[in-house]
Amino acid sequence: MSAALSLSGVVAGIGPLTILQGVDLEVGEGEVVVVLGANGAGKTTLLRTIAGLLAPRAGSIRLRGEEIAGRPAHRITRAGIGHVPSGRELFPRLSVGDHLELGGQVCAPARRAELRASVLEMFPVLAERLGQRAGTLSGGEQQMVAIARALMTDPRVLLLDEPSTGLAPRIVLSVFQTFPALRKQGVSILLAEQSLTLGLSAADRAYVMDHGRMVLSGTAAELAGDKRVADTYLGR
Ligand SMILES: Nc1ncnc2c1ncn2[C@@H]1O[C@H](COP(=O)(O)OP(=O)(O)OP(=O)(O)O)[C@@H](O)[C@H]1O
Ligand SMILES: [Mg+2]
Repeated sequence: MSAALSLSGVVAGIGPLTILQGVDLEVGEGEVVVVLGANGAGKTTLLRTIAGLLAPRAGSIRLRGEEIAGRPAHRITRAGIGHVPSGRELFPRLSVGDHLELGGQVCAPARRAELRASVLEMFPVLAERLGQRAGTLSGGEQQMVAIARALMTDPRVLLLDEPSTGLAPRIVLSVFQTFPALRKQGVSILLAEQSLTLGLSAADRAYVMDHGRMVLSGTAAELAGDKRVADTYLGR
């Protein structure tokens, strides 16, 4: 069986700058995988490339065996990649409900209604705030809206770019606690995270990224006990 998501030799950059220097990565069906890395390691660039916001210059990106590299972002969304961008990128004046509608536009109406029910079950606090403008929500609630919007696209793989940013540890845990339910629904997760402890606590497997390359990988338990992980951070 093919992996949920599989990257091989992915090179990408911005203008003259090459940021991803040939990335290999795999996310198995139902797996939660974290990409760890210090500031500027290339995590956001990696997720943006998978989501099609940046076209890879070389390499292959397969979603359940199907090549998606080089397709426009909206087609990659339809193929089954949901992206929760760094910084959330909500529309402050639009309501919670509007954000769900935006995500759900890629799905057929019947499926949209199902997804909406399941998303509101996962984030009951959003059900109480459907009419509230996103800009007036707390940071944790805003993160839930960003995730809910991505889930409304009916993804097979959900890309989460540092959802912990600016949130209290307790709130981060409540976000990570949604992962088992997502896994049950057949959604595989690729998380980018700067914090070693947070990232490893949430994932089955981890990769450590440095200067646009994967330098270490293993199960979360293996990497939690590996001194080289911290060295990668401190060595920068
Ligand atoms: N728009 C851009 N223009 C020029 N350089 C960029 C741009 N975006 C990212 N870079 C550079 O690419 C490298 C990787 O950045 P990226 O944002 O992917 O890292 P990151 O791992 O997500 O970092 P952080 O943990 O701070 O979010 C950095 O050296 C960064 O300065
Ligand atoms: Mg980033």
